Amino acid sequence: MARIFANYVEKAKRILDQNWIGSSTKPAPALYPHQWNWDSGFIAVGRSHYDTPRAILEIETLFDAQWLNGMVPQIVFDRDSLGNYFPEPDFWQTERSPNAPPGKLTSGITMPPVLAVAVEKIYRNARRPRTVLPFLERIYPKLLTLHAYLYRERDPNDEGLVYIRHPWESGIDNSPTWDIPLGRMQVDRATLPPYERKDLGHGVDPKTRPADEDYDRYVYLVDLFRGCDYDEARIRESCPFLVQDPLFNSVLCRANESLAEIANLIGESPDQPRSWAEQTGSAIRRKLWHPEHKIFDCYDLAANMPIEVDTSAGFLPLFAGAASKEQAEDLYKRLDSTSFCALHQGNCFTVPNYDTQQEGFDRANYWRGPVWININWMLAQGLRRYGYTLKADSLQKDLLQLPIRFGFHEYFDSFDGTGYGTDNFSWTAALFIDLVHEFYETERASSRIAAKARGIFSSGVVLNSGDETCGVASEELAGALMRSIRTLRDAFYDTGRGLVDYHALRESAEYKEYRRLTTGLRDFDLCQLVGRRDKLAFWVNLYNTIVIDGIVSLGIKQSVREAPDFFGHLKYAIGGQLFSADDIEHGILRGNARPWFHVLRQFGTRDPRKAWIVKPLDPRIHFALVCGSRSCAPIDYYDSATIYDQLEAAAKSFVNSSEVIALPEEGKVLLSEIFRWYEADFGGKRGVVDFLYDYVADEGARRFIRENAEAVQFEYIYYDWNLNR
Ligand code: DGY
Repeated sequence: MARIFANYVEKAKRILDQNWIGSSTKPAPALYPHQWNWDSGFIAVGRSHYDTPRAILEIETLFDAQWLNGMVPQIVFDRDSLGNYFPEPDFWQTERSPNAPPGKLTSGITMPPVLAVAVEKIYRNARRPRTVLPFLERIYPKLLTLHAYLYRERDPNDEGLVYIRHPWESGIDNSPTWDIPLGRMQVDRATLPPYERKDLGHGVDPKTRPADEDYDRYVYLVDLFRGCDYDEARIRESCPFLVQDPLFNSVLCRANESLAEIANLIGESPDQPRSWAEQTGSAIRRKLWHPEHKIFDCYDLAANMPIEVDTSAGFLPLFAGAASKEQAEDLYKRLDSTSFCALHQGNCFTVPNYDTQQEGFDRANYWRGPVWININWMLAQGLRRYGYTLKADSLQKDLLQLPIRFGFHEYFDSFDGTGYGTDNFSWTAALFIDLVHEFYETERASSRIAAKARGIFSSGVVLNSGDETCGVASEELAGALMRSIRTLRDAFYDTGRGLVDYHALRESAEYKEYRRLTTGLRDFDLCQLVGRRDKLAFWVNLYNTIVIDGIVSLGIKQSVREAPDFFGHLKYAIGGQLFSADDIEHGILRGNARPWFHVLRQFGTRDPRKAWIVKPLDPRIHFALVCGSRSCAPIDYYDSATIYDQLEAAAKSFVNSSEVIALPEEGKVLLSEIFRWYEADFGGKRGVVDFLYDYVADEGARRFIRENAEAVQFEYIYYDWNLNR
């Protein structure tokens, strides 16, 4: 793990320790002094990586205050901290309800039910998962009761969509979406019970908090609930705010998946949570999709109409796997645009909470524009689930750098990263820990695989040997081979997502044709390649396909490291000489340089293959050579006519991905190991600095690099060798 991450993980843990209040964690030191429902879910996810007992206690403390009807309250009040928050138990008066949990002080609403997801993660991240099973057995019936409460009390039409009855239940309190239903409520302050806001102190700028008019409405609704003694049927009759929200329902749908997993683990039937997940997923797809806006919106049950306001909550069906493939594709287009900060846009952090192009967008105000870590954490998982790996990586990059650069704040400015709200915010710290673990978890997995696989094969494999011949004349061969590679690209490479469908490729006629043509290489005369662009395209494409050919031929499952010296052993016979992927890269394309893992240059002094070196060396090839792994360049086909433009685009894309993270406040840039291995190709450290300056899109990062060209320090990010499947 880059040292810098380790230091910040320690800092994040200290924040969680400081916010620990005996048997749970408060969200922040002063602004939120009690236990909050979904905060505890996210906090438990972070803690699950290093302190299973506390992660379990966090969740059990919350469920100790579960209502008798199954509702898990939004807030469990800490008796020792009363007097610093509004509204507290004296205002909620939940004792009016026969369902309120005896002896506990709670609010009378709930929050997005992320808890089953957290519980599953506690199990999966535990060092000895078996020891967590008794906890799963204890908590499972309580989680089931929570979900049953939601479907029973909050889904009056039995649609599979549950409603929220207060903006605080959404977790995104003053989202612009609520302006419409709240705006309909005629609230006269004079008739409201008197109250005093307590959230405006604590050093937090009031402009970044909800408005007084919003609070009047929040209070109006609480007053209505207590007037109904928290009886759900009576509330349903009179509440003007009943909204089916894609965020709440997506979290519920995803939580049902976890609940089914937990059921399996403890030998219970997963049928009920599975059928809930299916019902909710299909209802989200059907009812909450806005076919023109191409995003999921809320449905206002009280007014019986959709609320056509698009926020980042509308992307969360990705998290639940609830969006259809077509919807996901449309959503992705909307997400990856200036509205929500596009890939490589360069002047923003993803994903702001509200469309930056809307008039009501406010970069600093709570849920009306800033970037929130929890929403992005869910979105990154959703994007991965649908295969949008590059975008997921870029979210992850932002989620790692925002707390490092701007502090563990509650929320962040989408354009310049300024931290807003309270500092030392628990879920920012907790999810940071989770993200760092996710970033590095493959490291351990792939080195284990490598260790196991050592010795699978020892001598080189010539992939185009055998008796077959291709029957294509030598002068036609290069063109035919390049066309065949382009066909493979069109059919099996997802260049946008940087992935290869190895499974489909393996059995395809296109791949068979490619293999047939490679037999022609045995007699191919390399003198036929004339001109630098033709040579570059030939060797780059051949390198990329020998890697794919090798992965398929060897039946690699997880990582090219399953085959020791993968890049040295796989060869094509070309014109009577043998070329491995390493020969192509280090010998031909890097001007016979020394590979980073060897002491000698690739070709010895008398090696005749030196005749084919492509000069001069272009360091951008490092972003076009695909090594079959998640950390290398996304695959593409390179056309000799356009190869310079393509190399330019490949370099730009790589430098602006999660493989380069500038941390001006630390005087550092975190870089892919590619820049360490091939530093000499860029002209030494100073050459790397100049290169980054040329390609980095983020204006702040460019300024930093320019002003610190000599002093900037590099730290190298672990290279993910897992397959780009
Ligand atoms: C607050 O007090 O601002 C909370 O978000 C309510 O849950």
